[in-house]
Amino acid sequence: MKFQAIKGVRDITPPESALWNRVEQAAREVFSSFRFSEIRLPIFEQTELFARSIGADTDVVNKEMFSFDEEGGGALLRARDDVRNFVTPAHMDQRDVGAFLGFANDLIKRREEAIAQGVLEVDDEAKTFFEYFLSGVARLEALAKAEHLNDAEIIGVTRLLQQSTAYIRIGESFSLRPEGTASVCRAYIEHGMHTLPGDVKLYYIGPMFRRERPQKGRYRQFYQIGAEVLGASDNPRIDAEVIEMLMAFLDRLQLAGAKLAINSIGCQQCRPAYVETLREALRKVKDKLGADSQRRVEANPLRVLDSKLAEEQAVIETLPRIADHLCAECREHFAQLRAELDLRGIAYEINWRLVRGLDYYMRTTFEITAPGLGAQDAICGGGRYDGLVESLGGPATKGIGFAIGTDRLILSLQETEEAAPAARLDVYFAWIGAATYPAAAELARRLRSEGLRVELPAEEMKFKKSLNLADRLGARHAIILGEDELAAGVFTIKRLADSTQQKLGESELLTYLLAERTSERGA
Ligand code: HAM
Repeated sequence: MKFQAIKGVRDITPPESALWNRVEQAAREVFSSFRFSEIRLPIFEQTELFARSIGADTDVVNKEMFSFDEEGGGALLRARDDVRNFVTPAHMDQRDVGAFLGFANDLIKRREEAIAQGVLEVDDEAKTFFEYFLSGVARLEALAKAEHLNDAEIIGVTRLLQQSTAYIRIGESFSLRPEGTASVCRAYIEHGMHTLPGDVKLYYIGPMFRRERPQKGRYRQFYQIGAEVLGASDNPRIDAEVIEMLMAFLDRLQLAGAKLAINSIGCQQCRPAYVETLREALRKVKDKLGADSQRRVEANPLRVLDSKLAEEQAVIETLPRIADHLCAECREHFAQLRAELDLRGIAYEINWRLVRGLDYYMRTTFEITAPGLGAQDAICGGGRYDGLVESLGGPATKGIGFAIGTDRLILSLQETEEAAPAARLDVYFAWIGAATYPAAAELARRLRSEGLRVELPAEEMKFKKSLNLADRLGARHAIILGEDELAAGVFTIKRLADSTQQKLGESELLTYLLAERTSERGA
């Protein structure tokens, strides 16, 4: 049996990994110049956190999350759902009551097992509620023994038992994070970061997980470099500065052809009315839309604007535009954002169809596309999410941020730029004769501590083979150490590009190599 990486998941191997490091290092440097600090977030969280922030009806939460039950919680969760989802017929006969009691008793048993295994912890409140549950079960058992069943009472008790399962908090569901904003907001609340001075500016770098259909630029484990600003102010200067930072980062990488699109999607005051207007307009042209868009007319009309189907484009262009339906505050916020971008000399286009697939956005949304990527050409998405922290139980907070899809950014860099030369080896040790190895190891340690890249082969080799390997590894220099050199206390250093060589003592050698490095890396 041969093992392979799972579909949609991949290795990032050298030399490509060097480019990843360069990109991540550039992000760290640029972001820290804007006073952003790194937050390292957990890879998985309660499923509920993502459902509440991204939105339970979004594709990301609904279809794409990798979720699993808390250890040991699975059986308990199923037992609870059996009770909760039991459909009570209008007349419960002996068999129906028996079936329901079977589920209820199974739940009691599973709960005890889970407590015994230490999987489920119960506080006093949970204990009290469970006592109600037990007495309800006892009551139902007694009712079931009566000669004539009292439907109304049996159904009443059954419903009560079903409802009381809400107080059995068991078998929590966890999910691999599909994005980072929800976790940042959770952490902001959990650590009381609203008491920190100034806006809280955080960035994160790491893998995200979505069960999407894999294709070029779309993976099931992909990587993001994200940044968020949380605080009391929703000043559009913050939006503009966040975008400025993003553009500075892309400039640092010399990414060619990146395009910024912005939009405002309004707020709780104005968006609902626009959505209704849009829905009305869509109903009139429904038969000209594809199946996906038809479904969205009622469920989520904004998402129709995202459609890339060629045959829908002409119809979509005729739809009402949100810019004409923004409330005065949102219109003012968007106008100021544009002025702030102009002030910074940042070029953008307004894309009235940029709505984005996550429910937490309001007002500013933006996206960056890059060439060379085909259909998956968005390398970054972001926007404002005032109120998200509050909806997760935190203080009233404004928020804005973005996430760069690192995989796509790297693909675009590879398409548009010459491959950067890999970091070269400074020194290769050709040591000859076992007696010379300790001196080679000693010198290698010294050179490495100066930051030189050094390869010291573990196996003794013939001289020719050793120099051949030095060439294939792309070393700039070989240090040749044979018994003669060892006796004389010198090293032969050979520059491989032109085969010039000289004999030097240890400190001259170090001076020579450091000077070579300065001239090479400076060049
Ligand atoms: P998002 O638009 O869902 O936003 O993702 C941001 C970026 O992640 C996308 O533009 C894309 O480059 C990349 N991406 C998403 N899914 C995949 C995938 N399956 N494979 C490869 N790359 C992918 C967010 O995640 C928000 N949390 C951004 C944000 C931060 N908004 C405010 N703050």
